[in-house]
Amino acid sequence: MDQQCTTLSSFIIEENRRLGDKATGEFTGLLNDISIACKGIAALVNKGALAGVLGVAGSENAMGDAQKKMDLIANDLFIDALQNNGHCAGMASEELDEILTLPEGKIRGSYLVTFDPLDGSSNMDVNIDVGAIFSILKAPADKKDPTAADFARPGTEQIAAGYCLYGPSSMFVLTTGNGVNGFTLDTSIGEFILTHPDMLIPETTSEFAINASNQRHWEPAVQQYFADCLAGEDGPLGKDYNMRWVAAMVGEIHRILCRGGVFLYPIDARNREAGGKLRLLYEGNPMAMIVEQAGGVASTGYKSIMDVVPNGDPHQRVAVIMGSKQEVEIILSYH
Ligand code: F6P
Repeated sequence: MDQQCTTLSSFIIEENRRLGDKATGEFTGLLNDISIACKGIAALVNKGALAGVLGVAGSENAMGDAQKKMDLIANDLFIDALQNNGHCAGMASEELDEILTLPEGKIRGSYLVTFDPLDGSSNMDVNIDVGAIFSILKAPADKKDPTAADFARPGTEQIAAGYCLYGPSSMFVLTTGNGVNGFTLDTSIGEFILTHPDMLIPETTSEFAINASNQRHWEPAVQQYFADCLAGEDGPLGKDYNMRWVAAMVGEIHRILCRGGVFLYPIDARNREAGGKLRLLYEGNPMAMIVEQAGGVASTGYKSIMDVVPNGDPHQRVAVIMGSKQEVEIILSYH
């Protein structure tokens, strides 16, 4: 092992020290809990069919999505990691109908965590990227069990956010509001190692990601931007575009952090009432914080995602347009 390497744990401790935090170690402990859940998930995702984790579970989540076996296993790994060490006071997950408070006898910590334990899980059975997304909020100071209202806070109040991408290698990407850093899992020692310090999204791009099969349902602004992208250098945008669609937001955002691009899951006629398709508390907000901390822009098309006022539903939906600053600004000018 390289003597200079920085592990995720040592990075977090150092960062707390640099920020002058007279830390109790609770926040460091919380991030450690999350990273342990992610390592457990990575090990199973990596074994795939050998671990018997492919296929459907035969149940549905609160939004009516068919749950995969691995959705439920990943959810349990997050809950186990978060409820036992006294760092977390409650959680909200894509896979839980309601928010989860801790069982009797467990210490209520100072933080709330929202998470999508296996983003893009339909990719699981076809051995393509999946991931986990999380967001951390401060818990109410009274140490009582949190309610759904305690989670209903705008993205601007997030203390930290991150994701773990389970791809060719597993990567933990984290922001605590002081830039974005990426850590690659060294499976031989079981540690996330800092490999991508200070990740910055290039301001310009000619790569977009959108599920074009929804085209006829989009609003006119997105229809027009898309048409202009397809027109390439002969159209008003004056350049040829490339398109990608991983069908896992974690994969799209990671690509954008590495080489730029824009990711859109805009309002369409079928989800207008709900506000979009993706979930605000455990998809939109954490990814918006990461993208903005890396110099990008994250919008609904009409306002900053992190300014959306939550309505109290832990599964509230939101429209998402995020990525390279200048390209997102071009898209916003169509709205
Ligand atoms: O949970 C949402 C999600 O899986 C995202 O990660 C991904 O970007 C999107 O849904 C894929 O949607 P579609 O089914 O339209 O390809």
